[in-house]
Amino acid sequence: MIAHDVIVRRAILPEIFQLRWDVLRPGRPIAAAQFPGDDAPETIHVGAFVDGRNISCATATRVPWQEQPAWQLRGMGVAADWQKRGVGQRVLAEIEQLVRQASDIRLIWCNGREEAVQFYEKLGWQLASEAFHIEDVGPHFKMTRRL
Ligand SMILES: CC(C)(COP(=O)(O)OP(=O)(O)OC[C@H]1O[C@@H](n2cnc3c(N)ncnc32)[C@H](O)[C@@H]1OP(=O)(O)O)[C@@H](O)C(=O)NCCC(=O)NCCS
Repeated sequence: MIAHDVIVRRAILPEIFQLRWDVLRPGRPIAAAQFPGDDAPETIHVGAFVDGRNISCATATRVPWQEQPAWQLRGMGVAADWQKRGVGQRVLAEIEQLVRQASDIRLIWCNGREEAVQFYEKLGWQLASEAFHIEDVGPHFKMTRRL
């Protein structure tokens, strides 16, 4: 069961950046954790917080999907000691809701890590590619969701 004191809310990049770096690009230079569009005005960052500690992060930026207007989900991560406790699910639901409210675009996509594919599928996402390799990160699949 998830503890009741986990707060999931819109965040600013400095609140979630260290966690993104630690969970998703450990040991890599800071630039590896900086994404195009991070500072764009329409970009949405979400975090989960416990007693002020950031334990989960996610970011949605406007990036087309197959030449159609869309949002890209990036930097979805949960601190190691909080994984598999329902936090990622809440953060993903929150960012999807904020994306719905932010525009009329009803498509979101991501490059999902092989080990996270089932997480996304449980939450309504669909595979949209064969496996492909992202250097220094590993095998990924493109995944999409209608909002
Ligand atoms: C993948 C990740 C974001 C999932 O967040 P989480 O908080 O651990 O997941 P939740 O506890 O909210 O899980 C929601 C559901 O997905 C399932 N799930 C979560 N991670 C899973 C995994 N790796 N494989 C299979 N199922 C998974 C859970 O069992 C749960 O299902 P249930 O409701 O039937 O019990 C998180 O584990 C993580 O940050 N992992 C390391 C970094 C990473 O891979 N990020 C994704 C980059 S694309």
